[in-house]
Amino acid sequence: MCGIFGCILKNGNAAPVIHEALKRLEYRGYDSVGEATIHNGKLYIKKDQGKIDEVHKTRNLDDLPGSLGIGHTRWATHGAPLEVNAHPHVDCSGQIALVHNGIIENFSELKLELEGLGHVFKSRTDTEVIVHLIEQVLKNNPSLGLADAVLEATKRLDGSYAIAVISTKEPNKIICARHESPLVVGVNENAIYCASDIPAFLPLTNKAVIINDGELVTLSLEGYEIKKITDASLVLREPKIIDWTPEMAVKQGYPHFMLKEIHEQPETLRNTLRLQEHYLDLMATFLDRAREVFLVACGTSYHACLAASYMFSKLAFLATYPVIASEFVEQHGKSVNIDSTILAVSQSGETADTLAAVNCARQRAATVLGLTNVIGSTLTRVSRVYVGQQSGPEIGVAATKTFSSQLSVLAQLALRLAKKRGKVSQDEMDFLAEKLEKLPDTVETIIQTQEEKVKQIAKKYKDAKTFFFLGRGISTATAYEGRLKLMEIAYVPAIAFPAGESKHGPISLVEQGFPVVFVCPKDETHKILIGNIMEMKARGASIIAVIEEGDEEIKKLADDYIEVPKGIPEVLSPIPFVIPLQLLAYYMAVERGHNPDMPRNLAKSVTVK
Ligand code: G6P
Repeated sequence: MCGIFGCILKNGNAAPVIHEALKRLEYRGYDSVGEATIHNGKLYIKKDQGKIDEVHKTRNLDDLPGSLGIGHTRWATHGAPLEVNAHPHVDCSGQIALVHNGIIENFSELKLELEGLGHVFKSRTDTEVIVHLIEQVLKNNPSLGLADAVLEATKRLDGSYAIAVISTKEPNKIICARHESPLVVGVNENAIYCASDIPAFLPLTNKAVIINDGELVTLSLEGYEIKKITDASLVLREPKIIDWTPEMAVKQGYPHFMLKEIHEQPETLRNTLRLQEHYLDLMATFLDRAREVFLVACGTSYHACLAASYMFSKLAFLATYPVIASEFVEQHGKSVNIDSTILAVSQSGETADTLAAVNCARQRAATVLGLTNVIGSTLTRVSRVYVGQQSGPEIGVAATKTFSSQLSVLAQLALRLAKKRGKVSQDEMDFLAEKLEKLPDTVETIIQTQEEKVKQIAKKYKDAKTFFFLGRGISTATAYEGRLKLMEIAYVPAIAFPAGESKHGPISLVEQGFPVVFVCPKDETHKILIGNIMEMKARGASIIAVIEEGDEEIKKLADDYIEVPKGIPEVLSPIPFVIPLQLLAYYMAVERGHNPDMPRNLAKSVTVK
């Protein structure tokens, strides 16, 4: 998730305008920043790694000539967060510059092809192929204009993109195109803008044109022209007036970052399906060779590990040990050795407890693998192999979108390992891969159809003193995560247990009206879980069940239920089933008058032990 911006001004310099807009986009990424402008037929570029303010201090981002330009703030996915990988990227001739948000899946093939034609690449990004591809299209068809060349080039791209392209050959235009990554255009009498989102230009204009998937748009001071990429047909679209306050704008109209991030999950889950297969394969190889595997993490990331231990066991027949990082050294510090593999999962890649466990393992010559959202973080530096989960920055303290992304990556890893070990048939692999592909849509459906219902449930239970969260099998992890969310942002004391264990103690707390949330996918645990629901009901509990659509048996038993679409395989079920629990925690916090984005006493990244 990066931020792109571009502008053409009637008067004045574009660079300071781009700089300010990038500041407003910084929440989308802050690994590096760059700008390119055109003045008197010449391209000017400044870029460097680091946050915008740091780079501005040393490079003065306002000091570029010209009234037209593009800019970028980066969240690294392919290629480390270094200057050489910062956008804009430039073609071999130094005439075309491009910024990109998204992931090009077929970049390796395209790079090989373009290198074969003599193109020289400077960066390790997927993005750079696009600018060379445009250059090549123009070489093959010198009569084409820039817009047509971009259109032809985008037809060869697999993956997601929102791009803005400028060229000294057509110095009065910016060409943009989009597929799956967001892109909007802003207009007023004195300028035209393009950006990843409306807040980037909202202080400059409130007239916005949303660009749809598969569209290309040419910006000039005369206005904008939208075309469909497939057949170059023209699209007519009027600007809309945006009436957001500045505070609403930062959250794109959502009242809190947490809700915005819950809603972003269809998009972030799609991004997890665009991982570099090579690294997943390499990881699977290390896991396959290991004598023992520890899954080490804190907080929400630990719950992802707990779910993953079921995935590895059920799909790849590999026993793994999920361990809370702060306990790792005490529990396994003496026994971990050269034959052990530690898969550390950390959104930030900087959590002190997780890094301490990793250090202990490294000192004892164990293999360290990392899964993180922050490329360039300490975890990526100390891991033998790491995979980026590609969720973009998460601002709400409570992890939501980063959790579902971790689950998706871990499921893909388990599948690869299963394949390597010959533990699943090709049919089953294909079936699971297809279901994984559909999950973003499933999550979208849940948010669209169940959010209002969850809101009502939160209203009903807002004064509850305690909550139980119960699940069996892999849903135990979902229950733990639902409990953590509710506790940390709504300040409701809550207990989570494997449902089978609840009768060994916790059930003594249950009395009339005590709310118990059950996570009930229709997997092998369903029947026995019904027994657990009955046990709770018999003691007067109020049952809130997250069920599969049409699960009439549990509907009859539950006081309230939330439905997720049918047919989700057991190993993938935590992804859809956690969504209603995230929403429940969010609305409970709001009902109880708390700010879900800033829970007291907590921090997004805990760098002390
Ligand atoms: C903190 C955050 C949690 C997070 C945990 C682990 O406690 O508040 O949301 O799950 O750290 O963070 P990590 O960055 O290692 O995933």
